[in-house]
Amino acid sequence: MNKTITILPGDGIGLEVVKATTVVLDKIADMYGHHFDYQYADIGGAAIDKYENPLPQETIDACKNSDGVLLGAVGGPKWDNHPKGIRPEQGLLGIRKELKLFANLRPVTGHESLTDSSTLRKEVVDNVDLMILRELTGGLYFGEPQERRQVDGEEAAVDTLQYKKSEIERIVRQGFEMAKLRRKQLTSVDKANVLESSRLWRETVEEVKKDYPEVELDHMLVDNAAMQLIRDPKQFDVIVTENMFGDILSDEASMLTGSLGMLPSASVGSEAPGLYEPVHGSAPDIAGEGKANPLATISSAAMMLKYSFDMQEEADSVDRAVAEVLTSGHRTGDIAKQGEPILSTEEMTEKVLNALKK
Ligand code: NAD
Ligand code: IPM
Ligand code: MN
Repeated sequence: MNKTITILPGDGIGLEVVKATTVVLDKIADMYGHHFDYQYADIGGAAIDKYENPLPQETIDACKNSDGVLLGAVGGPKWDNHPKGIRPEQGLLGIRKELKLFANLRPVTGHESLTDSSTLRKEVVDNVDLMILRELTGGLYFGEPQERRQVDGEEAAVDTLQYKKSEIERIVRQGFEMAKLRRKQLTSVDKANVLESSRLWRETVEEVKKDYPEVELDHMLVDNAAMQLIRDPKQFDVIVTENMFGDILSDEASMLTGSLGMLPSASVGSEAPGLYEPVHGSAPDIAGEGKANPLATISSAAMMLKYSFDMQEEADSVDRAVAEVLTSGHRTGDIAKQGEPILSTEEMTEKVLNALKK
């Protein structure tokens, strides 16, 4: 099959992990007789440097004219106080909105050989397998107004948390659909004891539940959910939640697998193409040093093969190779125990290539 993939390396370690991933995709193409055509485009800080715009129109067009989008990461200290208030992160939020990617799948899958890399006890995290389904185009990230204003004679700032019922319904329905295909257990996370948007969220979840009698549903307040994820993560199957809660809980959940450098994600909407990216950011503290763990991005590409290209076998090959590499004890710095040899991004990628089998 021929597929066009738009590659958005972005900033910092985004460049390194995306490079590693195209090499893996090339090998998959070779093994299975596909052709992947890459079109590179700028986003985030890299695009600000060139065009004073974190999301140029050419980038949007390239994404729309492709079968899948692979993104590294955006952001970094260089642009944190950029004049005119232009930030790399606006590029990422913009492309999610442009492509109408309202559903962000963040699977948290423990690898047995990595249980020692987690800061939590082995019996708490071994075989953890949960899915965080994060709403991605609504809530605090996009609510208007978002502005500075004078309040009681002093500077104040306003963000707006708004959800339309239809926005809640479509993500919650995906949550039920996903749970139906897994262990049939859905946890909806909100803050309904305080927030009106969460009360509408909870009401809507109850309405959609009527269409899914086979799925067991519970509601959990977000502060408790943060605690339960660490206390007993294996109680969860699918967690569905709003944009910001999902952002925070997924970074927290990454530590169940040992590192943020392990967590992939897929962002999908009702129209093609999907966008695939690691959950982590541009990691300015290690950028350019060849230390980044590429596995989150490589696993994100596996999600692209599966969800956007319907290449289940190819996706399984990538997942098996990643598992084999870990079982063989290969480690980048973020997942290495003290005294273990540490591989660079390129060396780790080489191990994955060698482990790829049909
Ligand atoms: P971060 O995710 O970039 O890094 C957090 C910590 O995890 C750092 O110590 C980093 O070294 C480590 N880490 C992350 N990915 C790793 C990997 N693949 N291998 C090894 N270690 C890894 O978060 P941050 O430092 O809070 O943010 C840095 C910048 O990234 C900010 O500008 C932020 O806005 C941006 N960011 C972007 C995205 C994205 O593009 N999707 C996501 C999160 C943060
Ligand atoms: C993520 C990131 C982004 C988010 C930022 C960089 C806008 O943290 O993808 O998790 O908050 O969604
Ligand atoms: Mn995040």
